[in-house]
This record gives sequence, C-alpha cells and structure tokens, in this order.
Amino acid sequence: MGCGPGNLSAYLVQKGYKVTGVDRSERMISAAHRRAGNASFQTADALHLPFEDNSFDLVIAASLLNVVADRAALLQEMARVTDSEGKFSTLFPTPGFSPKASAIYADQQKLSSLESAAIDLWSGKAKQLDQESVTTLFSDIGATNITHREYLDGMLMSLQAAP
Ligand SMILES: C[S@@+](CC[C@H](N)C(=O)[O-])C[C@H]1O[C@@H](n2cnc3c(N)ncnc32)[C@H](O)[C@@H]1O
Repeated sequence: MGCGPGNLSAYLVQKGYKVTGVDRSERMISAAHRRAGNASFQTADALHLPFEDNSFDLVIAASLLNVVADRAALLQEMARVTDSEGKFSTLFPTPGFSPKASAIYADQQKLSSLESAAIDLWSGKAKQLDQESVTTLFSDIGATNITHREYLDGMLMSLQAAP
C-alpha cells in the first residue's frame, strides 16, 4: 500500500511472491509498472481499498503510516483486507532518524556518497512516529500478536500484527 515507484514490489516479485501494489498517484503507478512488470498495480486510495475483506496473506505499507492524515483508518483498512491467518506490517521512521544520526550511520556503514546523500535528504524530511504510539494504534483497532523490528540502527522500525 502506497507502493510508490515499485522498488519493494520488484524485490518481492523476485522472491516469488504474487504482488499487488496500490498508490493514489498515477505517476507512481506508471513507474511501478515499469519497474515490476510482473506485479499488478492499481491507482487507489489506501484508506478506501477496492478489495474484498481477507483478500491478502500479507499487507505491507512502507513509509505510508507516517504520511497519511488518519492513521487509525489506514490500519483498519489494512487489517480488513488481510486474511484472518495473515499479517499486516508497517514501516516508519522513528524520532531517532535525524540528519546527525544518519551521517553517523552512513560513516559506520561506509555508504557510497549517493546513498549517504539519499539517507541525509530522507532523514531531514521524514515525518517520524514512535513505537509506543504506533503500538497503541495497532491495539486500538484490535490487532493481535503485535511484534516490532528495528532497521538502520533503530532509525526505522516496522510493526506487524495479525488482524
Ligand atoms: C513516502 S512514499 C513511500 C513509497 C514506497 N512505499 C517506498 O517505501 O519507497 C509514500 C507513497 O504513498 C503514496 N500515498 C500517500 N497517501 C496515500 C493514500 N492515501 N493512498 C494511497 N497511496 C498514498 C504516495 O503517493 C507515495 O507514493
């Protein structure tokens, strides 16, 4: 959900998953088609998905929860289209994702200058969320088995749950 130009979709297709990507931007959907031709894509609002209940085994929103106005509505819609045996997952930048922390990370990981510039730009712009408030949101919509995982030294985090 909020698949953007299809990088994650292309990766998942390569891994053998059957992928459906959704974004409200037609430009993003066109780019995603070019990048991940074997996935299917639709232009749609993630808060009002054109899918039946329980349609997918796994529903992923990377860098979407932190940009939508109504986070609870997004999580409810994700849970609705996730199969009762499945999982939904969201990835978001945390308050630790600062330009200073990303510069230290880039240095430690010996990132290329292009990668360093990308992470620096992203860290300065990204809307951030903390684990506790996202966990509360998941609980409030009735999600169960909530787990989390940190990425990039905790600058990014994913929370996943059963619907
Ligand atoms: C920060 S980008 C993340 C793109 C991609 N998930 C990634 O991680 O590279 C957020 C994406 O969500 C899309 N988006 C924002 N609000 C949306 C909504 N309500 N429904 C569907 N897509 C939305 C934007 O068009 C944009 O492509």
